Amino acid sequence: MRHFLSLLDCSSDELRYLIERATFLKNGQREGRLHHPLKGKTLGMIFEKSSTRTRVSFEVGMLQLGGHALFLSPRDTQLGRGEPVEDTARVLSRMVDGVMIRTFEHDKVERFAAYSQVPVINGLTDQEHPCQILADMQTWFEQRGDIRGRRVAWIGDGNNMCNSYIQAAALLDFELQIACPQGYEPAAELLDKYRAHAHIERDPLRCATGADLIVTDVWASMGQEEEQAIRRRAFADYIVDQRLMAVAAADALFMHCLPAHREEEVSTAVLEGPQSVVWEEAENRLHAQKALLEFLLNPAR
Ligand code: CP
Ligand code: NVA
Repeated sequence: MRHFLSLLDCSSDELRYLIERATFLKNGQREGRLHHPLKGKTLGMIFEKSSTRTRVSFEVGMLQLGGHALFLSPRDTQLGRGEPVEDTARVLSRMVDGVMIRTFEHDKVERFAAYSQVPVINGLTDQEHPCQILADMQTWFEQRGDIRGRRVAWIGDGNNMCNSYIQAAALLDFELQIACPQGYEPAAELLDKYRAHAHIERDPLRCATGADLIVTDVWASMGQEEEQAIRRRAFADYIVDQRLMAVAAADALFMHCLPAHREEEVSTAVLEGPQSVVWEEAENRLHAQKALLEFLLNPAR
């Protein structure tokens, strides 16, 4: 039994397989081919934070694979009233075939997984967002081919997405430069462990120069709403705008996991511009997670 709590839960080969499989499933879906490997299977989805893409892509993905998904909110489950995560894990995993969790503390998904009899998927924690990286990498591979040896510039907060990008750089062998203000760095142990693939380059313009892919995310993540004003000041120089895109490679792509705040971390012109692939990236959440669900929940694949 396998979990997907982190991108590092899969090998480079497995990650490459998932990316390729995602595009295969996407084409099959578009051609109207029915594919129901998860017939009769159920995914429990625990959301302790808001979501549009993650919720809809997992729910629709399970349906397209012949299975079913259950949305579980802490507002109306006993988790929200303090039932321990270890107890919830033992109960739920006797009824469903997989569980997806979006929450705050990363150790909560780890504790859940330790007590679960079925695969657990991290649908975003404060520390990592591995499902989004699957979709980002699928999008890159579809648009530009292999990412090995390419240069990626992360502009902005060293948050959950940035941590997952560091892991992707190591697994897929690309170079990641990170432009973040002092005090907003990604996880120090990841930077240290993967220093051959990822490093900080404070200056956004220098960071973006010659980059093949420019990526950013919101300045205040879910749970940091109260820091919004402080962060807006700290990140004022970190907007991805046309000035920044102009120094990147001529055919550079722009990605953002969404939701985006126009004229904060990204200008409207870049988000809506010809180098932006954010809508393809969002769609690929569905296809990438279908590949993941099939991989984890269907041992006979
Ligand atoms: N990118 C992403 O995870 O979006 P949602 O918060 O809408 O799920
Ligand atoms: N870093 C953002 C990603 C949202 C999909 C957050 O955690 O809120």
